[in-house]
Amino acid sequence: MSLTAAAENNNVASNPLVPVAARLGKKISCRLAQGPYAVMCRYGLRRDLTQPQAVPKPRIPIEIRQLAEADLEVLLSHESVDSAKERTEMTWRRDFYSRFPDGCFVAVDQRTGVPCYMQWLLGPADNAALARLRCFPALGEDEALLEQAYTHPDYRGRYIMPAAMAMIADRAVDIGARYVLTFVEESNVPSLKGCQRAGFRPHMLHRRAQYAFGSIVCNRFVSFAADDPRRTMHF
Ligand SMILES: CC(C)(COP(=O)(O)OP(=O)(O)OC[C@H]1O[C@@H](n2cnc3c(N)ncnc32)[C@H](O)[C@@H]1OP(=O)(O)O)[C@@H](O)C(=O)NCCC(=O)NCCS
Repeated sequence: MSLTAAAENNNVASNPLVPVAARLGKKISCRLAQGPYAVMCRYGLRRDLTQPQAVPKPRIPIEIRQLAEADLEVLLSHESVDSAKERTEMTWRRDFYSRFPDGCFVAVDQRTGVPCYMQWLLGPADNAALARLRCFPALGEDEALLEQAYTHPDYRGRYIMPAAMAMIADRAVDIGARYVLTFVEESNVPSLKGCQRAGFRPHMLHRRAQYAFGSIVCNRFVSFAADDPRRTMHF
């Protein structure tokens, strides 16, 4: 560590106001970025684990295991990508990890042992932490949630998502679930396709409206009627 960096570190460590001010500044800029009004619509897709579902074949051999902290440096390293959008996706997942340090699975490239995909499997025990995010319904006792699917850009387009997601969804029986939910923005066609190939069917629409820089949030989760054509649509 350079002397300047060490001195800066000492300043931060010895001045309790610095971290507080930094946190406050971050909070304010996050609020401002949310704007005065915004609406988001997502499909809630669902898989019934009692219905047989074959695991789609990916283009490379993969296996599933729980995330180890060292995987974050491989999957979410800002240096490994050159687009700002991709770095934002990575930052969201690092934030998600700080909220949910358990429950994340990775798919590993069996040829090299490199993790290439990540996704969280959460259950009703996570309801309190999910409620703080203000964009999920409370999970029932027989429900699980798959969230934050992410394939590293070096591995995209090899059908890793549908295969890994199908395998991770199967693990939901271990936390007592029959139904596995996942939410995807209407415009995210690659993800909607991946979910569908993993055996997930459109089940509900989530409309989230937020006002006054995110200080007021209204969520509406509306399940599709049994004969709603959206249940059988293909993305
Ligand atoms: C969505 C995502 C997980 C899909 O992962 P994946 O393992 O590449 O999924 P697939 O291989 O099944 O590809 C899905 C579709 O995206 C296309 N695709 C997307 N990005 C691609 C890329 N960089 N290279 C090639 N194909 C790509 C594929 O061709 C495929 O469409 P097709 O079946 O019509 O050919 C991945 O694009 C991603 O991590 N995106 C950013 C984060 C995100 O949106 N997560 C989902 C949140 S709900």
